[in-house]
Amino acid sequence: MKCTGVSHAYVIFGATGNLATHKLLPALYQLHRMGQLANDVEILGCGRTEFTQDTWRIEIRTLLVASGIKDDEVLTSFIQRLDYLAGSLTDAHFYQSLAQWVGDNGSENNVIFYLSISPDLYVDVTEGLAAENLLNESAGWRRMVIEKPFGHDLQSARELQHRLDKHLKEEQIYRIDHYVGKETVQNFLVLRFDNLILEPLWNRHYIDHIQITHAETVGVEGRAGYYDKSGGAVRDMIQSHLLQVLALLAMEPPVSMEAEALRDEKVKVLKSIRPLDTSQLSTLAIRGQYAAGVIKDESVMGYLQEKDVAPGSHTETFAALKLYVDNWRWRGVPFYLRTGKRLKARHSMIAVRFKEPPMDLFPRAAGKKRLPNWLLLGIQPDDAVRMEISAKVPGVEMNTRQIVMNATIGQPEERKSEAYEELLLDVIQGNRALFLRYDEVKAAWSVVDPILQAWEQDEQMPLQYPAGSWGPKAADRLFGDSGRDWRDSLLDDTSNPT
Ligand SMILES: NC(=O)c1ccc[n+]([C@@H]2O[C@H](COP(=O)([O-])OP(=O)(O)OC[C@H]3O[C@@H](n4cnc5c(N)ncnc54)[C@H](OP(=O)(O)O)[C@@H]3O)[C@@H](O)[C@H]2O)c1
Repeated sequence: MKCTGVSHAYVIFGATGNLATHKLLPALYQLHRMGQLANDVEILGCGRTEFTQDTWRIEIRTLLVASGIKDDEVLTSFIQRLDYLAGSLTDAHFYQSLAQWVGDNGSENNVIFYLSISPDLYVDVTEGLAAENLLNESAGWRRMVIEKPFGHDLQSARELQHRLDKHLKEEQIYRIDHYVGKETVQNFLVLRFDNLILEPLWNRHYIDHIQITHAETVGVEGRAGYYDKSGGAVRDMIQSHLLQVLALLAMEPPVSMEAEALRDEKVKVLKSIRPLDTSQLSTLAIRGQYAAGVIKDESVMGYLQEKDVAPGSHTETFAALKLYVDNWRWRGVPFYLRTGKRLKARHSMIAVRFKEPPMDLFPRAAGKKRLPNWLLLGIQPDDAVRMEISAKVPGVEMNTRQIVMNATIGQPEERKSEAYEELLLDVIQGNRALFLRYDEVKAAWSVVDPILQAWEQDEQMPLQYPAGSWGPKAADRLFGDSGRDWRDSLLDDTSNPT
């Protein structure tokens, strides 16, 4: 097998955990299969669970086979890259053993440290690595990948950054947001900046509003304890993923696709978001919590009944916000962000509604009105672009109806890459464009901090919504009397004559 790429070692802290076993190691397998890992790349897994090199290799082989990987030859050669080091990340001896491993393994000059661990451990790991001189770049590069969340509010993000700054340069830190690695999210950039067709319309003169929805049917699964204490829909989804999507949609064309050019533009958008007026919060931000209900014919329990959720917890499993980007292009255009667990369907989508033409020239059937133009971008599960426009119904009468131009982005024979594959490769290649710079993270926390603080002081419970619904009905309040409504699906019925 022909392998290209940069020599390095990949060290994964938290290798026995959910993220590493379900996403990172499968993504590295795919990079190996595609010949993107240099021959001498070794991958060291670290965790507290005791494994030998042999038992670790068997464990990962079994997992990859169970995930559907069939090519035995490629799998065997991938497994040969794996090694394991057991120990606690709060124990100084562990870093001595790690330094020895790094010294003993051919690619000692370039090392990626992936922190697939609880954020409480980020500082311990950084200090442990620094104590063994493992972050020093005199002989080769040292990169650290940090999972979200980066802090749990603005203040804690600042404190974390302050601790990291002592040992790492900003260029060494890769703050990952896997949402930005999704094919469709990157496709916004191509749709916007590799075509001229959208750009003239992409502003307050033609766009009525934009909705960004991320809906899940799952609940908190095995993460209830963590989610209840440190999560919630705003911290878990909006501060990171949905604000990133908003920034990519709203930003000005960057001068190039270089990391700093792209990130400069995203930061400008985040900084232009109008601070939320907390005295009007009930019309700008809605929080909810799922109660028992039915999803796909299956009864599911409410959030408060989930194991490890504190009795009477106020943690929101649903949030919807109305934001304004106060700049020349977007002033006055609302951006509605909505996310929730245990909702009716699993889907992520961007829905852009255009304004009405200045005159209504065509007759409508009694009681019918013109339907608006929508541009819909499906992120998951449908990776699609859909445009809804008005056309004449065939026949002697002048009736109109909405027709749909629908395109799936990928071809059936094309394999869609997983977000982590591309991002892990970017780290190897030193491409930071899709990773978050500290000022982006800070700006995103500044947007949501006032909401989190106001909700923390609010003694009322989040609004309950039955599992299997689209969240609390009160989320409609964000639209006021504008006549707008949530766009729940890519596939709303548009076939009726209007
Ligand atoms: N899971 C996801 O899909 C996902 C998505 C986005 C972001 N994230 C983020 O990714 C990180 C990891 O999430 P996860 O779901 O994989 O967590 P997880 O399943 O709980 O795994 C945690 C890992 O950390 C290790 N660990 C914990 N304490 C340790 C210590 N003191 N010393 C050494 N190792 C220790 C555990 O090792 P042992 O079990 O062997 O002790 C395990 O490998 C978190 O920051 C999370 O927010 C996860």
